[in-house]
Amino acid sequence: MQFTVAIDGPAAAGKGTVARAVADEFGFAHLDTGLLYRAVGAKAMMRGRGVIDAEIAEEIAKTLSEEDLTREGLRTARVAQAASKVAALPAVRAALLAFQKAFAKRKGGAVLDGRDIGTVICPEAEVKLYVTASDEVRAARRYAELKAKNPDTLLETVAMDLRQRDIRDASRDVAPMRASDDALLLDTSELSIDAAVAEAVALVKERFGKA
Ligand code: DC
Repeated sequence: MQFTVAIDGPAAAGKGTVARAVADEFGFAHLDTGLLYRAVGAKAMMRGRGVIDAEIAEEIAKTLSEEDLTREGLRTARVAQAASKVAALPAVRAALLAFQKAFAKRKGGAVLDGRDIGTVICPEAEVKLYVTASDEVRAARRYAELKAKNPDTLLETVAMDLRQRDIRDASRDVAPMRASDDALLLDTSELSIDAAVAEAVALVKERFGKA
C-alpha cells in the first residue's frame, strides 16, 4: 500500500505537530524534511566557521548521514537561518531530492512536511495540506518553544527571524514555499493543537478510505 500525505507551510504554523499526529494515527512513516536542510546548514556553518560556502554545502547534502540528522542543536534559530540559506541553493535541493521522493513512495504510507512537498517532491500525493497561521501567532509559538530552552530569547528577534525566513523561502527561484493549487488550507491561528490535528486526521481518513 502506497499513500502519501504532503504537508507544507511556513515555520511554526503547526505542520510538524500535525504531521507527527497523522503519522501516528495511521501508522505511516514521517519525514520532517526541514531537518535535512537544518543538518546541511548546521554542518556548512561549522565547516565554514560561520560562513556558508555553496560548494561545501552541496558536498554535505550529497553525503548527509542519519547521524547528521540526530545531532544536537539543530533546532536553534541560528541553524534555522542557515537551513533557509542552504535551501535556496539549487544543488543542495537537487542532492536531497531522490531521498525525499523515495520516502514519499515507501510502502505502508508516508507523511512528509516541509515547503515544497505538494509542489515538487510529491505532486501526486493523495492528501495535500497547507498549514498556516498568522505571523503573530507563529512568532508567539516559536518564542515559547525557544524561550523554554534559552531564557534570553526575545519575541521581537524571533518574529524577525521568521519574517526573514518566510521571505527567503517564498521568494527563491527553486522550489519556493507555496501552497499547491490542490492543497487544502488549514489555518491554525485560532485552533488548539487537538482541533488542528482532528481536522487533518478527518481529511486523511476520508481520502484513505477511498485509496
Ligand atoms: O521546517 P523548518 O523550519 O525546520 O525548515 C528549516 C528551513 O529549511 C526552512 O526555513 C526552509 C528550508 N526547507 C525547505 O526549503 N524545504 C523543505 N521542504 C523544508 C525546509
